[in-house]
Amino acid sequence: MAQSTLAILGAIAALTPSITAAKIIDNNASPPNISTLFNGSIFYTWRPRSHILPPSGQIGDPCMHYTDPVTGLFHVGYLHQGAAGATTDDLVTFKDVGKDPTFIRAEGINDPIAVFDGSVIPYGINGTPTLLYTSVSFLPIQWTIPYIKGSETQSLAVAHDGGANFTKLKEGPVIPGPPFPVTNVTGLRDPYVFQNPTLDAAANSTNGTWYAAISGGIHGEGPSQFLFRQYDADFRDWEYLGQWWHEQANSSWGDGSWAGRWGFNFEVGNVFALNTEGYSAEGEIFTTLGAEWSEVPIIPQVSQFREMLWSAGNITTSSNGSVHFVPSMAGKLDWGQWAYAAAGKLLPANSSASKASGVDHDRFISYLWLTNDNFGTDAFPVVAQGWNSVLTTTRELAQGIISDVVDNDLVNETASWRVGSRNSAAGTVELVTLKQTIGQEVRAAFISNATRTFTQSGRNISTTAPGYGNTSATALDFQQSPMSRFFLMTASISFPPSARNSSDLKAGFQILSSEYESTTVYYQFANESLIVDRSNSSAAATTTPGLPSNNEGGRLRLFDIAGSDSGNSSAIETLNLTIVVDNSVVEIFANDRFVLSTWIWSWYDQSTEISFYHEGSQAVAFGNVTVYEGLVDAWPERMY
Ligand SMILES: *[C@@H]1O[C@H](CO)[C@@H](O)[C@H](O)[C@H]1NC(C)=O
Ligand SMILES: *[C@@H]1O[C@H](CO)[C@@H](O)[C@H](O)[C@H]1NC(C)=O
Ligand SMILES: *[C@@H]1O[C@H](CO)[C@@H](O)[C@H](O)[C@H]1NC(C)=O
Ligand SMILES: *[C@@H]1O[C@H](CO)[C@@H](O)[C@H](O)[C@H]1NC(C)=O
Ligand SMILES: *[C@@H]1O[C@H](CO)[C@@H](O)[C@H](O)[C@H]1NC(C)=O
Ligand SMILES: *[C@@H]1O[C@H](CO)[C@@H](O)[C@H](O)[C@H]1NC(C)=O
Ligand SMILES: *[C@@H]1O[C@H](CO)[C@@H](O)[C@H](O)[C@H]1NC(C)=O
Ligand SMILES: *[C@@H]1O[C@H](CO)[C@@H](O)[C@H](O)[C@H]1NC(C)=O
Ligand SMILES: *[C@@H]1O[C@H](CO)[C@@H](O)[C@H](O)[C@H]1NC(C)=O
Ligand SMILES: *[C@@H]1O[C@H](CO)[C@@H](O)[C@H](O)[C@H]1NC(C)=O
Ligand SMILES: *[C@@H]1O[C@H](CO)[C@@H](O)[C@H](O)[C@H]1NC(C)=O
Ligand SMILES: *[C@@H]1O[C@H](CO)[C@@H](O)[C@H](O)[C@H]1NC(C)=O
Repeated sequence: MAQSTLAILGAIAALTPSITAAKIIDNNASPPNISTLFNGSIFYTWRPRSHILPPSGQIGDPCMHYTDPVTGLFHVGYLHQGAAGATTDDLVTFKDVGKDPTFIRAEGINDPIAVFDGSVIPYGINGTPTLLYTSVSFLPIQWTIPYIKGSETQSLAVAHDGGANFTKLKEGPVIPGPPFPVTNVTGLRDPYVFQNPTLDAAANSTNGTWYAAISGGIHGEGPSQFLFRQYDADFRDWEYLGQWWHEQANSSWGDGSWAGRWGFNFEVGNVFALNTEGYSAEGEIFTTLGAEWSEVPIIPQVSQFREMLWSAGNITTSSNGSVHFVPSMAGKLDWGQWAYAAAGKLLPANSSASKASGVDHDRFISYLWLTNDNFGTDAFPVVAQGWNSVLTTTRELAQGIISDVVDNDLVNETASWRVGSRNSAAGTVELVTLKQTIGQEVRAAFISNATRTFTQSGRNISTTAPGYGNTSATALDFQQSPMSRFFLMTASISFPPSARNSSDLKAGFQILSSEYESTTVYYQFANESLIVDRSNSSAAATTTPGLPSNNEGGRLRLFDIAGSDSGNSSAIETLNLTIVVDNSVVEIFANDRFVLSTWIWSWYDQSTEISFYHEGSQAVAFGNVTVYEGLVDAWPERMY
């Protein structure tokens, strides 16, 4: 559970918007102060078509996903008045599990106050999907303040009605609190259940044992993942195996440039194993996790940071038999400052979606929460909008391989990759990292269901290119642009070797542009970053509080790739971009290993143009750009 300010105040807000408002908003005229508009009056202005969000109101952390062993349907869960969900048989379209999609609410003895994140054993008690979730009895809960004993416990509920309802077991919590003597925790929540044969061997467990990794930390010591092991067939008791992962408070991976800080408290930790195709029980151990930190650990906080990270590593067993996760690489699962609380799940090859699309291997898919209001701390006009936040596009995770990389000082770093193997004869290495791509069915549907597809021919651009302006920067218009803010675009940019040391080169695209607004997405070698310049993205940002116009940015290293003539020549890896624009939701995928999700709150209807963007003295080569306009309607059964 991502702890928002709402939670710390002890209030969980549930918006109940009026969505009957007629469209009185004129998106061809300058924007009003949106905060002053009545409930739901801009319901459609920025609403995405292809993303997961409830019919109305607020969405919180994704969690509690599973594939139903009986139906093969994948269930996507998310916090919403408790937790709610939807099913899919293709990963493209979704159906709410009920008219009210809420399947578990805070009420009763174990969780009188709140239901926080949990995860599902698909074939659990009596073969029924079984949920292990954090049941909350006291608030506030926050890593910066003393922990209230008994505030977070872990309880069970089992699916009824095909997952439309999860019924709580009439018994106390199965994990009733922090394991003695580790009592002064900063948090103990978001249990993530998993099976893993490598861990079975390391911990001397029976094959197929279920584990629960619970996220949190210890006051004065730092963040941890606490590991528990199933004890009985009905998951009634869980044996504590220790802090299988602990980091020093406020420490970082390397110098922090590739994976931010470990912080003071972990949240939403997932544990799974991947090979190059997707999920593989025998594969490399990966974890995704949220890390919380601040500059000053007091309340009121002047700063609150959350980092959505991933790490991969080895399982070791120490001489006393305790098992440990030892990271060998770590990175950001998403560089968007408002993207957090990822929850993923094994999607088996026999799920309906995989069978329909012919994917014959197990996959691991993940969703993040993209908040609309900075985790409840900003003034974004959620009442006028009538909905608040979304989940990011279905993402597939796998082990990523980067081949034929020149073995130079760009590869030796404590970073978001590791050297998998070295070919000293060729002077190259193979790097291993986390691969992240749009779910293949989703990408295919965005392409095949496009209502309009066009290609803009690529071109070389330097300061001497025809059409280049008098200023140091130029934007060269596309011959055609989308007519809406619903599209997927693919593009590539190649850089000459001299670009590596350039201090002023910026190359990319302006999107969502008009004479009034525009957003620039560009790469620069100066700090190896992909930047989203939002300073002119929204005319409404000047009239309405809570629509930040700060840059978003993330680090991406483009390696030197050896030429086919055995390393005698090399070239900088091409930058490959896939950008999804689903109205205000913008997700940027680069080179199958970088993702940045953010909001662009364009106001004017005509802000849809695209142009090439170039600045600096080095020439770059833009490849063809293809735009697939339309996306899909992810909710065909909803009225709106
Ligand atoms: C508008 O929303 C606010 C906040 O959710 C609520 O308090 C208020 O009653 C709503 N007003 C109407 C007219 O629905
Ligand atoms: C779920 O089942 C419980 C117990 O039968 C019932 O009280 C509750 O109303 C049901 N909830 C939904 C959303 O159907
Ligand atoms: C492993 O488990 C087996 C069966 O429970 C037990 O007999 C054996 O002593 C254990 N070995 C270790 C090293 O703990
Ligand atoms: C457990 O699984 C491992 C690896 O999958 C296998 O080598 C071993 O034989 C299995 N042990 C049992 C008792 O099934
Ligand atoms: C728990 O840790 C906090 C912060 O370090 C400290 O103020 C408090 O006294 C500790 N509580 C106990 C019971 O040790
Ligand atoms: C955590 O580390 C960062 C980076 O060194 C520093 O800016 C911050 O003040 C530290 N936070 C605390 C609470 O010490
Ligand atoms: C850690 O895991 C990696 C990848 O699976 C493997 O190559 C490496 O040998 C392992 N290291 C140790 C010390 O076991
Ligand atoms: C990188 O590290 C490897 C292994 O330590 C070493 O062999 C190689 O020379 C290093 N390369 C550079 C460019 O530092
Ligand atoms: C780029 O697009 C043009 C048409 O616009 C086409 O003729 C050309 O083959 C494409 N180039 C590549 C590399 O796809
Ligand atoms: C917009 O309205 C909000 C809510 O009434 C107010 O707090 C804010 O100051 C206004 N902003 C501007 C620029 O008028
Ligand atoms: C970039 O895209 C091109 C064409 O789609 C492909 O050939 C190339 O392998 C991709 N490179 C990377 C690093 O993904
Ligand atoms: C795909 O396009 C067809 C034809 O326009 C449309 O009927 C269908 O609803 C679309 N599918 C989705 C998922 O949007």
